[in-house]
Amino acid sequence: MSQTSPTVRIDRPGPPEAMHLVDLPVGEPGPGEIRIRHHACGLNFIDVYQRSGVYDLPLPLSLGMEGAGVVEAVGEGVTHLKAGDRAAYASQPPGAYCALRVMPATCVVKLPDAISFETGAAMMLKGLTAQYLLRKTTPPSGLRAGDFVLFHAAAGGVGLIACQWARSLGLRLIGTAGSDAKCALAAEHGAEFTINYRRENFVDRVREITGGRGVKVVYDSVGNDTWQGSLESLEPLGLMASFGASSGKPPPIEVAQLAKNSLFLTRATLFTHIATRESTQAMADDLFQTVLSGAVTIRIDQRYALADVVQAHRDLEARKTTGSSVLVV
Ligand SMILES: NC(=O)c1ccc[n+]([C@@H]2O[C@H](COP(=O)([O-])OP(=O)(O)OC[C@H]3O[C@@H](n4cnc5c(N)ncnc54)[C@H](OP(=O)(O)O)[C@@H]3O)[C@@H](O)[C@H]2O)c1
Repeated sequence: MSQTSPTVRIDRPGPPEAMHLVDLPVGEPGPGEIRIRHHACGLNFIDVYQRSGVYDLPLPLSLGMEGAGVVEAVGEGVTHLKAGDRAAYASQPPGAYCALRVMPATCVVKLPDAISFETGAAMMLKGLTAQYLLRKTTPPSGLRAGDFVLFHAAAGGVGLIACQWARSLGLRLIGTAGSDAKCALAAEHGAEFTINYRRENFVDRVREITGGRGVKVVYDSVGNDTWQGSLESLEPLGLMASFGASSGKPPPIEVAQLAKNSLFLTRATLFTHIATRESTQAMADDLFQTVLSGAVTIRIDQRYALADVVQAHRDLEARKTTGSSVLVV
């Protein structure tokens, strides 16, 4: 019996209003695939880039990279999941804003019973990102308890998870955010120092906080607006970890800019880290254990119905959200 699913699509890139709900047929999973019925899906800033055309993707395009629900059927060769399993994922290709989909099984993992579907949908892409940033995106000299790091947009989805995780690792996280209320939220979740970067010069404040030395790593997902200041906030041999561009692409970099303090630079992306089933599972195990231990709480500050996806994107782009947002199916 063929089924259909309400699915959020764009015919061409554009503003939030470019998204609309269509009913799409959903078939049987092929080799290496599963069919999953979502209970919730996660909203991420990468969805904004995809919707607005920052990335060149085939059209029409179904959106969404994160979800949680129940596996309905598995295709040939899938051994780590079976029909009836609770599951969650951050995964390519886009298409998670829907009730039911067929997708590759590689990045789908079993969701522990103690974690709700909504929390699962809110934590996979953002939590796995915080995991690879703090655990694996470190300077050659390593990152140890007591080290200073600067984390921009600290009250956002990835940000609030990173604040808590950094605290549990003993890192001294300096978090930036766009309002005093957001700064207070980041502090509540483990940022030792906060800077309202719409009001204060964060480079000066970082110098002051670190006694003039600078931080060991800057985790920069803001891009254009913070780029130069981030480079200036690093200590000698520090690491600039660029992982997003919510304010626009950073300017092209002159390699000589790194020479002053022998800086390291990486442009990191989750999809490199979850390229295999083994690496995805290992990272997810670490994330689940960290959440189940209570070291990290997943905050869902915005919930929307699937049909209200346009408003959800408007809020995310207008910097109105904090923590995670989910679309409830
Ligand atoms: N490379 C990867 O592997 C990877 C994976 C996940 C996420 N990311 C990136 O990490 C960042 C955070 O993702 P998220 O989904 O958790 O989003 P989010 O942090 O909840 O939302 C984005 C935040 O960026 C800040 N921002 C600064 N300038 C902005 C501007 N001009 N327009 C809009 N927002 C601006 C805002 O916080 P303030 O108001 O506090 O400034 C806003 O709330 C995004 O850049 C995303 O692309 C990268």
